[in-house]
Amino acid sequence: MKDLKEIFEERRSVNFFDKNKDLDEETLEKIIDLAVLTPSAFNLQPWEIIAVKSKEAKEKLYDVALKQPKILDAPVTLIMVGDKNGYKEDNPAWWYMKDVGMPDDKIQGSIDFAKNVLYNTDLKANNFAVRNTSFLCMSIMYAAKYYGVDSHAMIGFEEDKLKEAFGIPEDKVVVLLISLGYFDESKTLYPRLKRNGYEKIVKVV
Ligand SMILES: Cc1cc2nc3c(=O)[nH]c(=O)nc-3n(C[C@H](O)[C@H](O)[C@H](O)COP(=O)(O)O)c2cc1C
Repeated sequence: MKDLKEIFEERRSVNFFDKNKDLDEETLEKIIDLAVLTPSAFNLQPWEIIAVKSKEAKEKLYDVALKQPKILDAPVTLIMVGDKNGYKEDNPAWWYMKDVGMPDDKIQGSIDFAKNVLYNTDLKANNFAVRNTSFLCMSIMYAAKYYGVDSHAMIGFEEDKLKEAFGIPEDKVVVLLISLGYFDESKTLYPRLKRNGYEKIVKVV
């Protein structure tokens, strides 16, 4: 079993997926059910996922995602959708706090604060959806690696066309595409690109 450090070190964006290797439903379910342990603001989990698996759906996605071949080659590509309205009162996840003993008036106070202060503009609501869903995206890629599955994140898509093609409403944000499957061992990936480390990015104040 891989430890977390190995998972970090070995995950790569796999440009080439083995077309002949399927990803079984059970493994996909395990990946998602592990990844949802990711944190989200107030535990609101403002996201949903469309798993693109059929030939027809893959072709539709391929056409609105810069014709990136991995969408056709990978057994599944996840459309990661964030909900700009996920902070509103009608999200039942607000009340999950009740299960652990949070009083109703405290929960209602958080709902009001979210509505009136934290997410009271369209930009803030959009950031809410993107921030939270981005955590889930990364968790899915690491969870996949834990189960021996490779991934590739893609932001290269035309959001309006993608939404239209898959019936995603206006108040949702397409945060990312994640292809999942197995690296085509006959291909070679370029070496991992250099990262800026502590020295360069941390300012201690
Ligand atoms: C938000 C995001 C969007 C990306 N979009 C694309 C994309 O559209 N097409 C692509 O080929 N790679 C895409 N990538 C992959 C990056 O190029 C890749 O993660 C980076 O070069 C580092 O390589 P590594 O993941 O193998 O460490 C994306 C990665 C992220 C995190």
